[in-house]
Amino acid sequence: MMVDAPKINQGLEGIYFTESGICKVDGINGRLYYYGYSIETLAENSNFEEVCYLLLNGKLPKKSELSAFRKNLASERELPEEVIMMIKRASKKANAMDILRSAVSMLSFFDEDSGDNSEAANMRKSVRLISQIASVTAATGRAKAGKAYVEPDPKMNHVENFLYMLNGAKPEPDHVKILDTMFLLHAEHSSNASTFSGIVTASTLSDMHSAITSAIGTLKGPLHGGADEAALHMMNAIGKPENTVHYIVDALAGKKRIMGFGHRVYKTYDPRARIIKGRLEEMQNSADKEVRNLTNIALQAEKLMINKLGKSHGIWPNVDFFSGPVYTDLGIEDYLFTPIFAASRIPGWAAHIMEYLKGNRLIRPLEYYDGAIGKKYVPIKER
Ligand code: SDX
Repeated sequence: MMVDAPKINQGLEGIYFTESGICKVDGINGRLYYYGYSIETLAENSNFEEVCYLLLNGKLPKKSELSAFRKNLASERELPEEVIMMIKRASKKANAMDILRSAVSMLSFFDEDSGDNSEAANMRKSVRLISQIASVTAATGRAKAGKAYVEPDPKMNHVENFLYMLNGAKPEPDHVKILDTMFLLHAEHSSNASTFSGIVTASTLSDMHSAITSAIGTLKGPLHGGADEAALHMMNAIGKPENTVHYIVDALAGKKRIMGFGHRVYKTYDPRARIIKGRLEEMQNSADKEVRNLTNIALQAEKLMINKLGKSHGIWPNVDFFSGPVYTDLGIEDYLFTPIFAASRIPGWAAHIMEYLKGNRLIRPLEYYDGAIGKKYVPIKER
């Protein structure tokens, strides 16, 4: 290695690339704030639509502002026929996140504001995408189940309409409340990989749809948003609570990663996971044996992992670990978990993109070249 080799921060670990007023992730104390409001306060008192307004506007809405915002969201749920057709045709084999990524790209063809990257147009596109990504996710669930597309109902609130479009029936109020809280908990998380990826795309002065498409492709990975589906697959592989210890000890001995645990920033319990765990404690008394079984596996795995890797290695449950059992209890298929994560995170992605563009600077880091210089070219016949 040359003497002047610079310090390399692989994965940009510990690097601050910009300032932001949107979200504080306190990884040491396990705290999370959206514009200064703790996640516990918001989960207790707020809802997803109000948090979308907060993230996009930097303040909680007055009653009249929230009602106008809700009407605006409801008016943007429709999908172009061509997008519905693509979802239907792709749904047999394609991964649900690939369908979502493709649908967002296609939506730009029909968006009256595409080509306009002004702040006002970006705000309109952000609101539109919050509504449309939920519609695409529901439409994907319908198509994969071989069921017809359900038109949105503008009278329902955001999450209620999502469940209605997914199941084709008016959802139970407690299901709406549980899923609304899940959306709120997943709405924003500072410069995570998918948000950063969206910002990188936007920093070239590309456009909102391209930036959100980048973010969706990034979120899909099992080291990031895809961990929620992977964690459930592990729980299904464990099968019974009594198999949990053996399965996990075996996996760790084989240097496997237990999905849903560990975090680049949280070195203690992810506060979102703690809130979601509260739902699992209620699910322990479920009338559904399957749900009780899954819940007990998850709670046993949590206990074991904290004992084995929590205090000693700073590897604790993260937001993805308990999400799968909650979505399963709501009757949601595993392939929709990460699209639901995307449908929850779109306000956070959009908020950071619009904030960064206010003081835009092209993102272009360095990489340290440690190869040869000035090699002699050898013609192919002499190689
Ligand atoms: C999300 O950034 C965000 O904010 C993301 C997110 C958001 O809201 O946007 O919070 C959502 O993506 C949560 C994370 C979901 N991913 C997973 O659950 C996948 C499993 N977790 C890991 O792969 C890992 O913990 C990461 C990727 C999340 C973070 O990893 P780091 O910071 O890069 O740490 P590392 O991979 O260098 O691990 C350090 C050590 C390694 O051991 P050694 O090679 O040093 O011996 O800890 C081990 C790892 O093997 N380790 C684990 C582990 N996570 C880390 N070992 C077993 N199981 C795990 N889950």
